[in-house]
Amino acid sequence: MSTEIPAALRDRLASWLAEQSPAGLRQQTEQLRQAYAGGQNSASVDLAAYISTRMPATYAAIAFVLREVALVQPDFAPASMLDVGAGPGTASFAAQTTWPSLSTFILVEQDARFAALAETLAKTLLPTHDVIRQNLFSAAPQVDAVIAAYVLAELPKAQIMKAVLHLWRQTQHTLVVVEPGTPQGFARVRASRDALLAAGAYLIGPCTHAQACPMVAPDWCHFKTRLPRSRAHMHAKAASVPFEDEAFAWLAVSRFAAPLPQARILAPPRTNKVAVTMRVCDALGLHDESFASRHKATYNAAKKLKWGDSLPLPRVPDDD
Ligand SMILES: C[S@@+](CC[C@H](N)C(=O)[O-])C[C@H]1O[C@@H](n2cnc3c(N)ncnc32)[C@H](O)[C@@H]1O
Repeated sequence: MSTEIPAALRDRLASWLAEQSPAGLRQQTEQLRQAYAGGQNSASVDLAAYISTRMPATYAAIAFVLREVALVQPDFAPASMLDVGAGPGTASFAAQTTWPSLSTFILVEQDARFAALAETLAKTLLPTHDVIRQNLFSAAPQVDAVIAAYVLAELPKAQIMKAVLHLWRQTQHTLVVVEPGTPQGFARVRASRDALLAAGAYLIGPCTHAQACPMVAPDWCHFKTRLPRSRAHMHAKAASVPFEDEAFAWLAVSRFAAPLPQARILAPPRTNKVAVTMRVCDALGLHDESFASRHKATYNAAKKLKWGDSLPLPRVPDDD
C-alpha cells in the first residue's frame, strides 16, 4: 500500500495552494521548521508551508503505521474514527485509504485556520464527517478507531498522559499514536505504552510483546519512511534532492488481543554475501538477527525486509 498522498487529495491540495499567495513560502517554511524544532505548537505555523512541506511527511508516516496496524489486525474494519489534533485531516485521509470501511469521520482541531482547511478538504473527499473546533479534552463520541498524529508533542507535559487516557476512553477498538521520531517523541510513546498497558490495553505495534520496553538511552525506538518531494516542496525547502526521510515513533493498542508478529526491525538491515543482519526487538529484547545466505529462501525473503517491518521469518536454528 502506498504511503503517498492519493491523487484526489493531492489535486485538491494543489488547487488550494494555487489560491494562496506563494510569496514568502520559503521563509514561512523556515519559520515552521524553527517553530517545531524549538518545541512550539502549530498556532504560529503558516498553513501553506504546512501543506507543502509537513503534510506529505506526516501522511507518509501515518500511512506506514496504519499499514502495520492493518497487518496485525486484518479483520479490523472500522466504521467510525476520531482524528485528534487533525490539522488538515491528514490521519483521516490516510485512514480512508487503509480502511475503506470507514463511513464516519470526526475531526477534532482547536485551531480555526486548520479546522477551516480540514472542512474544505473533507467536504469533497470524506463521506459523513464533522470537523469540531475544540480542544481534544472536550467530549466527543466513542468510535472504532482513534488516531492522534503529531499532537501529543504540542500538549503541555503535564497533560500528555491525561490526554492519552482520555483518548483511550473514546476508543471502542483501536487507538493509534504517531509522534515525531525524536528521543522526546519516543519518550511520549513509551510513557503512553506504560499507561495504556496499565489501563488494560492490548499491544498491536510496533512492539511484538508486552514486556518492559528494552530500549536504553541514548538509543530510541523510531522508524523512517522515504517520500518524494513535489516541486512546491522542493521550492519551499530550497531542497536539492527529490525525496526526504520522515522519522517517526508510534504506538497502537486495542481493546482486543491480536496475534503479534515475531519481531520488529529497528534499523536498516545490513546485507552482504554471507547474510542479512538486522537489529530487532522481540520478547528476548533487543538483538541482531541474521539470515545466512546458505538458507537461500529465508535469505532472499530477508533481503526484501525494511526498517519498521515486522519479521515473519522463521529462525533457522543452525544460523547461530
Ligand atoms: C503538527 S499538527 C498535526 C496535524 C495532523 N494530525 C498531521 O499529522 O498532519 C498538530 C495539530 O494539533 C492541533 N492541536 C494541538 N493541540 C491541540 C489540542 N489540545 N486540541 C486539539 N487540537 C490540538 C494543532 O492545532 C495542529 O493542527
